[in-house]
Amino acid sequence: MIASDKTSEKINEIILITECANGTPHIAPFGVRERNGFILIAPFKPSISLDNLLRERIATINTTDDVRVFAGALTGRRDWLVERSGEALVLESALSYKVINLEKMEEDEQRPKLYFKVIQEETLKSFQGYNRAQAAVVDLCVLVSRLHLLPIDKIISEMEYLRIAIEKTAGDNELEAWEWLVEAVDNHCAQFCGDNFA
Ligand SMILES: Cc1cc2nc3c(=O)[nH]c(=O)nc-3n(C[C@H](O)[C@H](O)[C@H](O)COP(=O)(O)O)c2cc1C
Repeated sequence: MIASDKTSEKINEIILITECANGTPHIAPFGVRERNGFILIAPFKPSISLDNLLRERIATINTTDDVRVFAGALTGRRDWLVERSGEALVLESALSYKVINLEKMEEDEQRPKLYFKVIQEETLKSFQGYNRAQAAVVDLCVLVSRLHLLPIDKIISEMEYLRIAIEKTAGDNELEAWEWLVEAVDNHCAQFCGDNFA
């Protein structure tokens, strides 16, 4: 057991779909947690999702095991089929969704905290079990989202470790997502790294 005064709060990585002013759905991965009966989302500014949430006050949390949606959001591929079901905006690949309504907000210059109540919840497909390659893709997504913040040798060495799970357990979707992310790391290196990583 980890000795700590801090109560641990599990974070689940989901796809948040908000509605833009022109009516188009906006897809973005976010980590969400439950706090005091609310769902907490904390977007860094600036954020299209944040703008949409403050204007519409309603959004849909999608769970999906298609990790291409996560990798796609970081590599300019957000063109996934989204269906409307009442107020819900639902990914074609969604396992489940929750329609959430903004109840309160703690303002912050960098990262406000938004608290939501669930107003509708549906399960569409069954959970197929944990897949290590999917977890590896989500982890690489997080690293890619921090390419400009982390040392590149740390990213490369973590990527090499994550690659083991890809080689052992990936299916087609996980391989495709992985390739998009590796390409993003390569492009970053080509632009910003020295000869060592050419
Ligand atoms: C697994 C995962 C979790 C993320 N969680 C957050 C988060 O909690 N807050 C945040 O601001 N961005 C998070 N991001 C990054 C956002 O998805 C990304 O910046 C996104 O484009 C949001 O900006 P937008 O609302 O302008 O689209 C996460 C990305 C990934 C891959």
